[in-house]
Amino acid sequence: MFEEQRLISSAKIENDENENVLRPKSLEDYIGQEKIKSNLNVFMHSAKKRGEALDHVLLYGPPGLGKTTLSHIIANEMGAEIRITSGPAIERAGDLAAILTNLSNNSILFIDEIHRLNHNVEEILYPAMEDYSLDMVLGKGPSARTIRLTLPRFTLIGATTRAGMLSSPLRDRFGVMFRLELYKHEELSTIITRSARILNINIEPEASIEIARRSRGTPRIANRLLKRVRDFAEFDGSDSITLDITRKSLHNMEIDELGLDNVDKNILLTIIDKFSGGPVGLDTLSASSGEEANTIEDVYEPYLLQLGFITRTPRGRICLKRAYEHLNIPYASAQPTLFDGDESHA
Ligand SMILES: Nc1ncnc2c1ncn2[C@@H]1O[C@H](COP(=O)(O)OP(=O)(O)OP(=O)(O)O)[C@@H](O)[C@H]1O
Ligand SMILES: [Mg+2]
Repeated sequence: MFEEQRLISSAKIENDENENVLRPKSLEDYIGQEKIKSNLNVFMHSAKKRGEALDHVLLYGPPGLGKTTLSHIIANEMGAEIRITSGPAIERAGDLAAILTNLSNNSILFIDEIHRLNHNVEEILYPAMEDYSLDMVLGKGPSARTIRLTLPRFTLIGATTRAGMLSSPLRDRFGVMFRLELYKHEELSTIITRSARILNINIEPEASIEIARRSRGTPRIANRLLKRVRDFAEFDGSDSITLDITRKSLHNMEIDELGLDNVDKNILLTIIDKFSGGPVGLDTLSASSGEEANTIEDVYEPYLLQLGFITRTPRGRICLKRAYEHLNIPYASAQPTLFDGDESHA
């Protein structure tokens, strides 16, 4: 299935104008991620007091958890200009050089999907991040010479769903690294209530908890489900989203009590049926289930791991008892052989 067609996909949809409307603008409105918020508050406060730019920040975690949102908030709170680009958008070293030389003091450069920067471009970033300098080669051939330009003191904010794919020289140049965690039900419920208020929808507290439970720990999914449930409520002629309507509409959309849909079930059933519960390597799982390996790893797995439905071992993914229970499949039939000493990599 294509990620964009999936209702509970955490992937962003291009031109989803509501996403901007619902984006909190201040740290105060940014719900959850308490540890990140309190540390960030300290770092921003001190940087401002010293009149300096904030140290470079790397934000990483699954899609839809609020990395882009947090970057805008940092800019707002620092009173800084923000320039937004992304790894794949910067094709040549010269493109990045142009961006860097146009920054102003204390401004923020946000690079989304920073793990997708190509290598030549990335190398320009090293001296830029470390010494605020840019080496440029002028001319070609024997007459070529290098000049060193001094850049303004800027803050680089990098966002990525896969910190593991960042090269270590790049990763090491970030002074601050934050890993965003999946949200708790109560936090998602607060987000849903806030979004409902912004979108002018009445929602019962029990209904917002119910949506929260099925949102896979992800604010983007919570907001999307809220909007779909609202459609059902309007269709029913109800001016308020009740628990009853919520349950009915989520059932119609084939999203179960834990927020799993057919794609998740397909992955779990592939491990259980075709590989006797695992272990199965990611690429094999991808080929057998028809889902892309990257998507399995970035989008499905974080939540399945959090639920305790699967685990990752050096030999591959294994389905755990809880998954069997949830799918109503007897567990005893398929005990994976966990420790037989084979350490080959998955
Ligand atoms: N802490 C939060 N409080 C309230 N709403 C949030 C929070 N985090 C995210 N959201 C909502 O979720 C939506 C998605 O967040 P955002 O675009 O920042 O995710 P992301 O981590 O950048 O995702 P991607 O990896 O796909 O770029 C936002 O539009 C915002 O409305
Ligand atoms: Mg983003």
